[in-house]
Amino acid sequence: MKIDRKPVYEALRGRNSKDYEIYLNCEKLLACQKDFDELCNEDELQFQIVHQVEELWMKLLNYTLLNVHDYMIAGNAHRTTTLLGRCNQLVRLMIQQLDLLETMSPREYQQIRLQLGNGSGQESPGFKTLVSLGPRLWPAFEDAFLKPEKRTVRSVYDTDYAHDDAYVVAEAMIEFDEQMQLFRWHHIFLIHRSIGMGSASLKGRSVDLLQKGAKQRFYPALWDVRVEMTNEWGGEYGKVRPSIGGEGEAG
Ligand code: HEM
Repeated sequence: MKIDRKPVYEALRGRNSKDYEIYLNCEKLLACQKDFDELCNEDELQFQIVHQVEELWMKLLNYTLLNVHDYMIAGNAHRTTTLLGRCNQLVRLMIQQLDLLETMSPREYQQIRLQLGNGSGQESPGFKTLVSLGPRLWPAFEDAFLKPEKRTVRSVYDTDYAHDDAYVVAEAMIEFDEQMQLFRWHHIFLIHRSIGMGSASLKGRSVDLLQKGAKQRFYPALWDVRVEMTNEWGGEYGKVRPSIGGEGEAG
C-alpha cells in the first residue's frame, strides 16, 4: 500500500510551535520552496533546495570574509587562518553539493528550466558579493603582512622564507582562490552534464563564456611567484637536465 503523502507534507511544513522550530524559524524556512503540489516534476524540489542552500553557504562565506578582513587589518594571523579555513571548508561543501544535481536527468531539467524565467546564476547575490569581496583581501594582506616589514611575496616564499605568519596566511588565501576556481570549473561540468556546453543560457548568451570567469584569479601574485621561482630554478640548473636513470635514458 502506498504511503499517504498528505500527513507527511503537513509535517514538513513546520509550525514554529516548539523552541527548536522558533529558533530556526522553520515555518518560514520550509515555506521558501514551492509547495509540493506546485512542483513541475520530482526533481524540482532538489533543484530549488540546492540553489537555496548554496545561497545560504555564500551568505555565511561573505560574512566570514568580512571578519577575515578585520582580523587581517589587525595583523592577527591565527584568527585569519582559522576563519579562512572555514571559508575553504564552505567552498568545498558548495562544490560537493553541485553533484546532487547530476542525479537529475537532462530531460527533466528541461521542464524545470521553463520555470526559471530569465534567471541566471550570474544574478546570485551571494556569488556577486564573493567575486567583489574576495579580491579585497589582497590590499589588507599587503598592508598588514608585507609593507610594515618591507617584504614582498617573493621574499615570503623564497628569499627570506621562514614559514611564518605571512606565509601561512598567503597559503590560506591561495587555497581560497583555488577552491573558488574549482567551484566554477565543477559548475561547468554540471552544465556539461545537464544542458551541454555550447548551448545558449536563459539570457541567450553562449555558456562557453563561463570558461573565462573560471580563469579569474583573486590573488595572481601568489600564483605568479611559483612560476618565477621555477623558471629561475630552471635558469640556474638548466631547463632540461640529464636523466636520473643515467645517460641515454628517456627524459
Ligand atoms: C543543472 C544545474 C545548473 C545549470 C544548468 C546551470 C547553468 C548555468 C548557466 C547556463 C550559467 C550562465 C548564465 C548566463 O550566461 O547568464 C550559469 C551561471 C552561474 N550559475 Fe549555474 N547552473 C546550474 C546550477 C547552479 C547551482 C546549483 C549554482 C549554485 C550556486 C549555480 C551558480 C551559478 C553561478 C554563480 C553562475 C555565474 C558563474 C560565473 O559568472 O562564473 N548554478 N549557470
